[in-house]
Amino acid sequence: MKIALGVTGCIGAYKAVEVLRGLQKAGASVQVAMTGNAANFVAPLTFQAISGQTVITEMFAPGHDPDIKHISLGREIDLLVIAPATANILAKMANGIADDFLSTLYISTTAPVLVAPAMNAEMWKHPATSGNVRVLRDRGVEFVDPEDGFLACRTIGPGRLAEPASIVERALLLIDRSRAAGGSREEAPAPLDLQGERLLVTAGPTYEAIDPVRGITNRSSGRMGYAIAKAAIDRGAEVTLVTGPVSIEPPSRAETIEVRSAAEMHDVVMSRLNRASIVVMAAAVADYRPAQPRNRKIKKGAAKMTLDLERTEDILAKAGRMKGGRIVVGFAAETENVIDNARSKLFEKGADLIVANDVSAINAGFDVETNLVTLVSEGETTELPLLSKRDVAGRILDAVLRIKSASPAPVGRG
Ligand code: CTP
Repeated sequence: MKIALGVTGCIGAYKAVEVLRGLQKAGASVQVAMTGNAANFVAPLTFQAISGQTVITEMFAPGHDPDIKHISLGREIDLLVIAPATANILAKMANGIADDFLSTLYISTTAPVLVAPAMNAEMWKHPATSGNVRVLRDRGVEFVDPEDGFLACRTIGPGRLAEPASIVERALLLIDRSRAAGGSREEAPAPLDLQGERLLVTAGPTYEAIDPVRGITNRSSGRMGYAIAKAAIDRGAEVTLVTGPVSIEPPSRAETIEVRSAAEMHDVVMSRLNRASIVVMAAAVADYRPAQPRNRKIKKGAAKMTLDLERTEDILAKAGRMKGGRIVVGFAAETENVIDNARSKLFEKGADLIVANDVSAINAGFDVETNLVTLVSEGETTELPLLSKRDVAGRILDAVLRIKSASPAPVGRG
């Protein structure tokens, strides 16, 4: 994945270094292009040292590259990110002015474009800027809007560059989206290497009723499990998705079974286990449920009340015990000793692979589009960079296939 990062001249230019690092961590090769003014705020050498590539600062640098750089780079990239983007570059982009490398790159690429503006609050609110932003949005340019805060001009208001982590997250999402739409310059069609496999995937949270109006649940969005289901379908598998209550759309070609509680999820998984050749338990299943859920709403009374909870059945551990020739994958959501805890779960639950994630890390875990995970199997610990959940799903399925090809042929699926 190749990204061009345009940096324009404003005080937030130093934050572009963090954007560069985040994109690289996600596996991107990044070509930085700076405007003349940007180079007044941060030395091009800083970006050069981190990106490992010569930073482009001029349109017609005397030199070695025989290509017309803005054309060749425009063709190579999967995404153009401009962070920070000044009012000036927005005005040039909106009006097709191409008087330096970055503005020329913008009108010569067909790659998606992501812009993170940063400027004084009055400049951001000025009708000239709003008009330019509207023109660019209408043209399909994506924005990570500036945040409210204390600005370099010692005023408070909207205009501060968005957090680098949010810019990186949006950039990865855009690349995913354009790949899904067939727009990527690198993407080959998914290999049908899961043809003949039947995946059983759990996703989302569970909901354990306390009474008819209250319950215990968690922050799982279901995105990771849904991404696995979708990736497996794209690679030729038949998929049954057993999902807790979420607000996202299931992949159209999955058999989707909606459940609410851990007990319902347990029963559906057990009824489908026989048919499955690969089981992926991405659901955040409640470990405890109210021991005596009430049929009627509990009225308030004493100053304190105690809720009696009982353990739910560990579905993953049970599937591990009944594994037969299947490959069983579990998740470990941890906040400390991530790898050690994941390795214990691998053995205790009889899984072949545990996908461990530190849910306290930024941009990992619940309700975000990206994830930062380590794959823990019997002989291996593989730390992956920050990736979109779609890419994490692909890597999990790659690992499943590796484990499958290394294990002896199944002796029936009992
Ligand atoms: N899991 C399950 N059934 C449960 C609880 C968890 O199938 N009743 C599965 C999850 O789908 C996940 C894995 O077990 O794949 C790990 O869940 P996690 O909550 O991280 O760990 P626990 O085993 O519940 O242990 P702890 O909460 O003590 O960390």
